[in-house]
Amino acid sequence: MSNKSFTRREALLYSTAGVAGLALGGLPRFGADAATAARPLPIPTLIEARGGEPVTLAMQKSSHRFGVGSAAASTGISSSYLGPVVRVRLGDTIPFRVENCLDEETTLHWHGLLIPSDVDGGPHNTIKPGGVWTPELKINQPAATHWFHPHTHGNTAKQVYGGLAGMMIVSDGGDRDRGLPETYGVDDIPLVLQDKRFGRNGAPVYEPTMMDVMHGFHGDTLVVNGAIAPVANVPAGFVRLRILNAANARNFDLRFSDRRPFYVVGSDAGLLPEPVEVRNLVIAPGERYEVLVNFADGRTVELVTGPDTHLGMGPGMMMRMGRPGGTGVTQTFMRFRPDPTSKAAITRLPKGLTKLASPNPKAAVARRTLVLNPMMGMGMGMGRGMGMGMMGMRGQQSDAATPAGNAGHDHAAAAQMMGINGRPFDMHRIDFTTKLGTLEIWDIRSAAMAHPFHIHGVSFRILSNNSRPPSPAQAGWKDVVLVEDRAEVLIRFDHPAPAKMPFMYHCHILEHEDHGMMGQFAVA
Ligand code: C2O
Ligand code: CU
Ligand code: CU
Repeated sequence: MSNKSFTRREALLYSTAGVAGLALGGLPRFGADAATAARPLPIPTLIEARGGEPVTLAMQKSSHRFGVGSAAASTGISSSYLGPVVRVRLGDTIPFRVENCLDEETTLHWHGLLIPSDVDGGPHNTIKPGGVWTPELKINQPAATHWFHPHTHGNTAKQVYGGLAGMMIVSDGGDRDRGLPETYGVDDIPLVLQDKRFGRNGAPVYEPTMMDVMHGFHGDTLVVNGAIAPVANVPAGFVRLRILNAANARNFDLRFSDRRPFYVVGSDAGLLPEPVEVRNLVIAPGERYEVLVNFADGRTVELVTGPDTHLGMGPGMMMRMGRPGGTGVTQTFMRFRPDPTSKAAITRLPKGLTKLASPNPKAAVARRTLVLNPMMGMGMGMGRGMGMGMMGMRGQQSDAATPAGNAGHDHAAAAQMMGINGRPFDMHRIDFTTKLGTLEIWDIRSAAMAHPFHIHGVSFRILSNNSRPPSPAQAGWKDVVLVEDRAEVLIRFDHPAPAKMPFMYHCHILEHEDHGMMGQFAVA
């Protein structure tokens, strides 16, 4: 590895080839030589979608270099690992062409998009190996950062871990007026955060044990946009980071190494009314936050995560045992290196960003309680769930549609041991039907550990979490809520879902989802 530092132009040059274009050597390491021995942050290729023009996404096998060892077998979406960033505009209709070039069944779910269920990409929208899926997506929702990933019945965790995920930006054209950075890859930067376990050969390993399934699969090595410990050269002013937690299970507690303040400007499904100053930010699997960071002081700084304190059954209890190394300590994701020679477009913190009415719980027409059951049938389950859980573990598999090429991951033994309200996921059961155009309050309860709960086809507002009102950063539009104990959300159902093509609600710890902590609802 040379002493050369990369200019933004060079970084962009590499970025045009996507993460696949990165062939820069050297084992990234934060030591004495850290200033020189680091690879630039891969910036995914930007696809600017235009109304009516087809966008092709190929789910494919490839090989990818994360930064340890040599290139390893991987999967990606039109890329060697992860996918492009697709930027769509409010009001446009985009015809997508999703090609399954894998040798197993998959789906592609548009996480966060408010679209009808028949194009949602859930487990009912399967794409056979060699098949093509052509949903038309009409973009009609607030500006925000979303993502797409497989939702294959019983096989989502492995496919996402292997690299099948990408970011989608909904733009309403208003960022310039708001004073928000908007130059992609320069001061508007996507960060897809994940954790991995790497084998000796530099290939990520996915072999979940029963304990991994119970906790969710945690890795000991952090990756950003598919790279270990990269460096981003940034302008010495305000930079917008679009942060996605695309890890299978791990919560990240983000902060900067010098504990500088930063500003949350958007949550999962929309902008906040004004920037919210924080010094740390917990982001759960499936969640997105847009933040502004001021690099005007010109100092190099690291983005780190604190220990994941949301894992386990409370202080010192048994779930903490067997926790993989890494998740209990502070770890570094990446480094930012401000470039004083490049002129920053945004040097002032913006003020008003959007209007946000307070949620009105009185408008709800129904209230539902959803109890998340992590261990049905394990002798520690929730009463009435136990019987079915046991059945599930003995191979209640008729509809499980075990994908081809799935050897090595034993669905039959593990499937459907978890559930919601005492019932494991069943593709053929509609758990309930909500009324189109109405609002409901869902009261979500969890025990033993925190679960990131996600609902398809809607965005919602958090009314309370742990019996407290949401923090300002969580008070805007959301589609994932990290439920530590009990959370109440106010949801509006504006998109239809017939019983034959329902929407999903589930825990976004992908091992939990795959093992039955999911249900489905119709909207009529
Ligand atoms: Cu991001 Cu149902 O998933
Ligand atoms: Cu989703
Ligand atoms: Cu869970």
